[in-house]
Amino acid sequence: MAIRPWHAAGIILAVGFLGRAPSAAAQGIRPVPPHPPHPKATAESIAKGKALFSGTCANCHGIDGSGANGPNIQGAARALGPEGLYSTISVGVMGSGMPSFSGLGADKIWPIIDYVTSLGNHGGETIEGDPARGEKLYASNGCASCHMVNGQGSDRGPDLSSIGALRSDIFLKSELQDPGANLPVGGSSLLERTPYSNYVMYHVVLADGKEVTGMRVNEDSFTLQLQDAQGHIVSVDKIKARKIEVLPGKSFMPSYQGKLSDEQLNDLVAYLSSLEGAQ
Ligand code: HEC
Ligand code: HEC
Repeated sequence: MAIRPWHAAGIILAVGFLGRAPSAAAQGIRPVPPHPPHPKATAESIAKGKALFSGTCANCHGIDGSGANGPNIQGAARALGPEGLYSTISVGVMGSGMPSFSGLGADKIWPIIDYVTSLGNHGGETIEGDPARGEKLYASNGCASCHMVNGQGSDRGPDLSSIGALRSDIFLKSELQDPGANLPVGGSSLLERTPYSNYVMYHVVLADGKEVTGMRVNEDSFTLQLQDAQGHIVSVDKIKARKIEVLPGKSFMPSYQGKLSDEQLNDLVAYLSSLEGAQ
């Protein structure tokens, strides 16, 4: 597994330092630039922020904010609030590896903040729904064929037993509509280390031209084992395969957008949000 986040991060670090090197000490702490107020977070702003975060921040903080070369920032929104995040991102943290991103501008910094805020269950908007109806939908939509809740179900996807304590409602809803929120979206962040690297999808063209798309379940130097959508395990000879590529941001989880009504999605979110159990 070629997961070496520090390589890419070294480059970003160097750029960050060059960008502010000559005058940082002379100027003292940079003032926070004037900026427009925070627009309301939406599924779109979170998705936009995720793409920006993936390219700009994930090498140091991990795509899910759980930390890589930099610290875990999943609790940063609660500690700093939106304005505090704005100043951390635009000014940077003097004397640390956290560069200034003032060049991004408010139209990019606010979506990044919406994404960072969505990573923790705090500060976000709550979604009204009926958790009891949501639990029934969870059972009737095959969620347990991939997820565990309190030891029941399957471990093809992440354990959801305490997902309500970890994720905001808006994050949960966007995950059901457009799965893959935790997965690297592309570029160098693919190399990045996160617990979700396990769920990365591959597309392979075998020696005989047959194509397989699936989630990696196992890998060693010579073989890659993929599980396809039907649950079959395909073992790929890495040397003979014609092509092996990662599908950035693509999840094994189906989208429930259009399959469930908005009200049903809200009920599911209410159920997931209620799962705060210790594991
Ligand atoms: C080159 C590595 C690097 C990059 C790139 C980077 N950070 Fe950081 N970040 C750090 C480090 C190191 C710290 C810890 C600073 C300190 O010592 O307080 C930090 C701190 C933070 C904090 C403050 C955490 C707290 O609780 O005080 C936030 C929020 C944050 N970063 C967000 C971001 C965002 C958003 C981006 C992308 C726009 C980003 N960072 C890009 C390295 C990085
Ligand atoms: C075919 C397997 C599969 C099915 C069915 C499935 N999921 Fe997932 N789910 C995954 C995988 C893999 C991930 C991790 C990658 C990602 O974030 O998309 C995931 C991620 C999630 C996450 C985000 C977890 C986190 O740690 O942030 C939630 C919430 C979730 N699923 C809920 C559901 C619900 C509710 C259902 C049923 C309506 C469902 N899933 C059905 C495979 C599945």
